[in-house]
Amino acid sequence: MSNAQDRTPSTADRGVWGESDADIWERRFELQRTPLFDAVLESIDVESGMTLLDAGCGGGGLALAAYRTGARVFGCDISEGMLTRARHKVPAGEFRVADIAALPYADDSFDRVVACDCLLSVRDGHAQKAVRELSRVGKPTGSLCLVIWEEPRKSALSRVVTAIHKLSPTPPPVSPLALSAEGVFDALLREVGLRMRTDRTVRVTYRFATFDDFWSVWSVFGGIKLITDAVGESRVSNAVREAIQPSIRSNGELVMDNAWRLVVVSTKPV
Ligand SMILES: C[S@@+](CC[C@H](N)C(=O)[O-])C[C@H]1O[C@@H](n2cnc3c(N)ncnc32)[C@H](O)[C@@H]1O
Repeated sequence: MSNAQDRTPSTADRGVWGESDADIWERRFELQRTPLFDAVLESIDVESGMTLLDAGCGGGGLALAAYRTGARVFGCDISEGMLTRARHKVPAGEFRVADIAALPYADDSFDRVVACDCLLSVRDGHAQKAVRELSRVGKPTGSLCLVIWEEPRKSALSRVVTAIHKLSPTPPPVSPLALSAEGVFDALLREVGLRMRTDRTVRVTYRFATFDDFWSVWSVFGGIKLITDAVGESRVSNAVREAIQPSIRSNGELVMDNAWRLVVVSTKPV
């Protein structure tokens, strides 16, 4: 059996975003992301009748918000479990399994293209390939919105991920922090040649009743389980508890103040 480091970015995601992750994502995280979805749609002026591709659509929370504006919604994701939920939320949407770095759509297909929180790997130029693909399928007159995690110091959840990665025996093949270090994403956009129109921070709070409530879902979620299996759950949970301590209120509630970077760029290189 190959270890996590041997896998390509996409196959790693296939393993990570399985049925159980999709369930946790939809029940415990997606609903808390409404402010992010609203900010994305506001930033690209979605109008009724426009075609919108939500690439890496996950459980379809953003696709649903776009559908409610009257857009004709298309979505893709590498996870069938996620897509099942997106199809359920937006029966009129057209969803398919696809890697964002190899999109199954013709050039210049969509008025609006969105990739929210799914550019998770820079290995083998994957994120850059993905941005080129997202650009390719957008209409020249359109807009492309990309959302990544903000610099790690700006988010409670980034502190959790950083603490976990420090324990990982091998560098994780995919990470939400893949593009978040200062200058990395800007350099990628420059290389692809896309012109920046908007660059802003969106804050989203994740709340959990207690640390144990958070840990019960986070520890079995995504790539975290790969690391707890490798180094032992108690080591990881202790490191996470320490990293997240400033977000634990006196009543025990966990209130995580997180920040995403929302960028709108021209769809085509200039
Ligand atoms: C953090 S979730 C975000 C989901 C959704 N965009 C949202 O903002 O709620 C990341 C999603 O990206 C998908 N994903 C990760 N890598 C991908 C890839 N290479 N191609 C397509 N989807 C990918 C995962 O399956 C997962 O559904």
